[in-house]
Amino acid sequence: MTRETWATRVGFILAAVGSAVGLGNVWRFPWMTAENGGSAFLAVYLGVVLLVGVPGLLAEFVIGRRANRNPVGALRDLSGSRAWGAAGGIAVLAATVLLSFYSVVGGWILRYFLESLAGLAGAAPYAAEPGAHFAAISYGPSAVAFHLAFLAITGVVVAAGVRRGIEVATKVMMPAIVVLLVALAAWAGTQEGAAAGFAFLLGFDLGTLRTNALDLLLPAAGQALFTLSVGAGTMLVYASYVGEDRSLAVDATTIAALNTAVGVLAGLVVFPLLFALEVDPGTGGPGALFVSLAGAFTALPFGTLVAAAFFGVVLLAALSSSISILEIPVAFLVDEFEVPRKRAVAGTGALIAVTGTANALRPALFEFVAGPVVDNLLALGLLAFLLFAGWTLGDEAVAELRAGAGPIAAALAVPWRYLIGTLLPVFLAFTLLNALGAGRVVGDWGVVGVAVAAVAVAAAMLSRARTRSAV
Ligand code: PHE
Repeated sequence: MTRETWATRVGFILAAVGSAVGLGNVWRFPWMTAENGGSAFLAVYLGVVLLVGVPGLLAEFVIGRRANRNPVGALRDLSGSRAWGAAGGIAVLAATVLLSFYSVVGGWILRYFLESLAGLAGAAPYAAEPGAHFAAISYGPSAVAFHLAFLAITGVVVAAGVRRGIEVATKVMMPAIVVLLVALAAWAGTQEGAAAGFAFLLGFDLGTLRTNALDLLLPAAGQALFTLSVGAGTMLVYASYVGEDRSLAVDATTIAALNTAVGVLAGLVVFPLLFALEVDPGTGGPGALFVSLAGAFTALPFGTLVAAAFFGVVLLAALSSSISILEIPVAFLVDEFEVPRKRAVAGTGALIAVTGTANALRPALFEFVAGPVVDNLLALGLLAFLLFAGWTLGDEAVAELRAGAGPIAAALAVPWRYLIGTLLPVFLAFTLLNALGAGRVVGDWGVVGVAVAAVAVAAAMLSRARTRSAV
């Protein structure tokens, strides 16, 4: 059976942007920004996107296009080592865990979209008491039902295949998202009191930045990987469907730029509205979007109509991401075991239906999975990809990045290789160790030391294994 490829380059880019743009931009980004002090967080986050996210994205692209396989098959085939195949399995696991909470939030969005539509005639069900409404529907049997519905829509698209399903769907969704968000941001900007929201998001706040840089670094790193879809193998799998050689560096930069633009655009909708209604953005938590914002909509003229448009946008964004997450385990089953695509979708879907149900019934489990578990799995997955591309592929990775690239990217290929082989793994190891609480035991500099040592040992072992297999 020949493996599928994208029909067009635009199709590939839009699918990748569709994966990146999602709940991370609209739901997690405003929540994280509010919790971490506004513009200072934004500054650190943009730095991490540029210095860690884009090079990491490129590592996934290079591996995927080189191997034309899923994460497990790609790492195994390119290295000839089963152990590397198992390391690729981290990504497949991360994707499965990720979707089992993502689909629950997707279900909330689906519900709020339908409720806004239903509310056009009178008042939306969440209008009277937004907080109590969200508390009543966020977990429990009805949350399970909407999670299953969201998952089913995702499954239908993925079952239709790379070209006819994913590419067609994202080509329609992405322009719709941008047009609607621009209109919503323009509308939000005209609300009285919106200026305070702009100041919160865009005013550069050096003081907070200086005192909290390290505290901001960890959540900013987690958010940067999450929003760029890096670490779970999505970008690797999408690049494995790229047929011809074209500049991966240009594609990666375009994707990161568009993703950031949509994130800021979403912020320009959310913050002016929250400030216009004098809602404190710092207290919302994961329900911020559903409580404060849904409440804000109903208080404004034409609010229910705007709410329907807004939740419609978020629904499209969430779907174009969830299909990219489901595609990872599906590609794994199709590539490795020659399972027919539809059956692979049914099988993985059934598994995630169950794990997602657990999340939809247990708030504590949900918050644990959606926060630390996913952050760390993504960091671990990316760490494996970086070390693999930097040390095991090495020169091959440089050659792959150069294929189809222009002069700038070609010149940056070698520095990129050393960046992803040394500094970035240390950074990720540092965030992982800190997340495990090591910082409390040995202090920040101790953690840096341990991270440097661990990466140096790994690199030495990997390059020795490579020299041995070369002779
Ligand atoms: N980037 C997606 C979002 O922002 C989430 C995602 C993470 C998708 C990892 C795929 C892989 O919503």
